[in-house]
Amino acid sequence: MTAAGSYTVRRPERADLERLKAFAQDIWPGSPADKLTRRWWWNDPRAPQCWIAVHNDSGDIAAMCGERRSVLVLEAMEVPVASICDWDVSPRHKGKGLGRMLVERSRADHPVMYTTSISEAAATAFTRLGWAGHRPLSVMVGCPPLVSAVARARARRDSIATRNYRISSGSDDGIRHLDAIWDSSRQDRPIMTTRDARALKAHLRLVPHRSYGLTVAFSGDTPVGYALYRTLPKGSFRRFGHTPVGLLADFWVPEQNGTVLTRLVQDVSWALARSGVPVMLALTTQSWARSALRPLGFASEDTPWLGAKLRSFASRAMHVSDYALPDFEDGWHVTFVDNDMDLIFGSLAELPT
Ligand SMILES: CC(C)(COP(=O)(O)OP(=O)(O)OC[C@H]1O[C@@H](n2cnc3c(N)ncnc32)[C@H](O)[C@@H]1OP(=O)(O)O)[C@@H](O)C(=O)NCCC(=O)NCCS
Repeated sequence: MTAAGSYTVRRPERADLERLKAFAQDIWPGSPADKLTRRWWWNDPRAPQCWIAVHNDSGDIAAMCGERRSVLVLEAMEVPVASICDWDVSPRHKGKGLGRMLVERSRADHPVMYTTSISEAAATAFTRLGWAGHRPLSVMVGCPPLVSAVARARARRDSIATRNYRISSGSDDGIRHLDAIWDSSRQDRPIMTTRDARALKAHLRLVPHRSYGLTVAFSGDTPVGYALYRTLPKGSFRRFGHTPVGLLADFWVPEQNGTVLTRLVQDVSWALARSGVPVMLALTTQSWARSALRPLGFASEDTPWLGAKLRSFASRAMHVSDYALPDFEDGWHVTFVDNDMDLIFGSLAELPT
């Protein structure tokens, strides 16, 4: 029998919670049972940002595919886009076309799809599904006290001012500035998901228990860029043990001005350093941004010695599209908020039980 006849593809529902716990044990034996039942994708009131395949005979959940939905701006066009995450098939149901069925179901609603955090096996499978643009995506690592000191020294003579806000799903002070930044950059911006106030509020709704720092840079009274950051709960990364880790979750500087990014990172790293965070991570596909971060002490894959260690952090990106798209490199602005990484890092530890 074909996979299509033996399985039903649908959105997960609250009634599936026990089956999802069993499925989590199938794919990640020994992991916390509630790993999937407490995922961010439940928190979209329209529909969970996820598809599951249910085995008709047993009722078991056989596969799932997280679908991080947003809107991609291609010049003047706004296109529904989904980033695939949590793409997993139970070992008992692998190789029957379920992975393909789930991705194709999501594809029916999304002319553009991408992924930025996949395994080597998944990259091979995505290639078979017609996805392209396979490339590593490197994470940059900095030490907040050092970054803050270097950024302060470099930014001393500039005229960029900043304002800092604490934001969450219930507190949106400062978020309105994103609309001014977004509107000012209609011309000549790289391809990216919408980065206006509405998009950030939608992101915050997916993680209602979490707060972020938002730093907005101003030239005179005009907002010219922002950075979004947070400290991950301890133990979020096995490789860092219980060392607190800060995340530069997102930023956007329309003029692609390294001085503005330096000024933003100065405030972000200072806030992290003050709260005792010794490590911060940044992800960017943009070479101008990497060029601004490197002199502040951020190491990347090409940094001697440390770079080799960071390669184990490297994820892989791929995409499929009805439109001609440039590569992720430079043509596409991607940070941690553009996939499930920011949503997922530390999420189990921060949720109330
Ligand atoms: C990757 C995964 C989701 C694919 O699901 P699946 O149901 O087994 O895959 P399908 O049967 O739908 O196969 C889709 C295509 O990918 C190919 N494929 C699937 N798994 C593959 C693998 N491990 N290596 C190479 N090709 C693979 C299949 O041959 C098929 O191509 P074809 O239709 O041209 O023959 C599943 O194997 C899995 O859960 N892997 C472990 C977890 C993982 O790596 N998840 C991805 C994290 S981002």
